[in-house]
Amino acid sequence: MVDIRNIVILTGAGISAESGIGTFRDAGGLWEQHRVEDVATPEAFARNPDLVLRFYDMRRENIQSAQPNAAHWSLAHLDATWPGELTIITQNVDDLHERAGARRLIHMHGEHLSAWCMACDARNEWRSTLLDRPPCPDCGQPALRPDIVWFGEMPYRMDEIEAALRCCDLFVSIGTSGAVYPAAGYVQTARYYGARTLELNLEPSQGSVFFHESRMGKAGDLVPQWVEEILA
Ligand code: APR
Repeated sequence: MVDIRNIVILTGAGISAESGIGTFRDAGGLWEQHRVEDVATPEAFARNPDLVLRFYDMRRENIQSAQPNAAHWSLAHLDATWPGELTIITQNVDDLHERAGARRLIHMHGEHLSAWCMACDARNEWRSTLLDRPPCPDCGQPALRPDIVWFGEMPYRMDEIEAALRCCDLFVSIGTSGAVYPAAGYVQTARYYGARTLELNLEPSQGSVFFHESRMGKAGDLVPQWVEEILA
């Protein structure tokens, strides 16, 4: 076993599934119920802003009643105790990692609980609705949009992510289908720079072949087991 000091963890919708937040691509997932082109692109927002805002208002409300599960809690414990570098990159836009206490966290696809003002570029914590076009707390313009990275937009904090991937000894992917780039390619980047790679998922992801090791099961079982192992 190589000496592990720096860890990068990538999480996806599967880690929040046991908290009752639906995934995107599983049977009955969000993208079976809605077309990406209708609700998750800048073009959709330009074409029908009410439809898009209503969709995100509903999801923003839903995540606030969900609770972190054992996988979120154990990653937060690892974050608090791991002496080396550790970066949790989440594709999730819920706040369950931080509610469990995770600190070294990057929301690469944005956050439900944040509103972004298209007039002044400010970002503010947001818990209520946007459909009613509330004024921006900073500039007063009714120009707020969900602070979500839509398809066709650039994910956040790419430089920090790239830097973390280049120097990690272990890359762990949890609960993601590996269907959406750039996150789907992080395993290959980490591996190229010499990291050991591990996948924890309900079923083999699309990029399963790129991992040194894959463990199949629920995040709520697999993640606490793995955290215990790595801290032992
Ligand atoms: N434990 C572990 N894995 C699970 C669980 C669970 N309890 N439940 C489901 N999974 C797995 C599924 O098998 C699937 O491989 O989680 C994965 C979820 O995949 P997706 O629904 O595609 O979610 P994700 O990979 O996060 O999607 C990436 O796509 O639409 C965009 O921006 C959205 O961030 C999202 C991105």
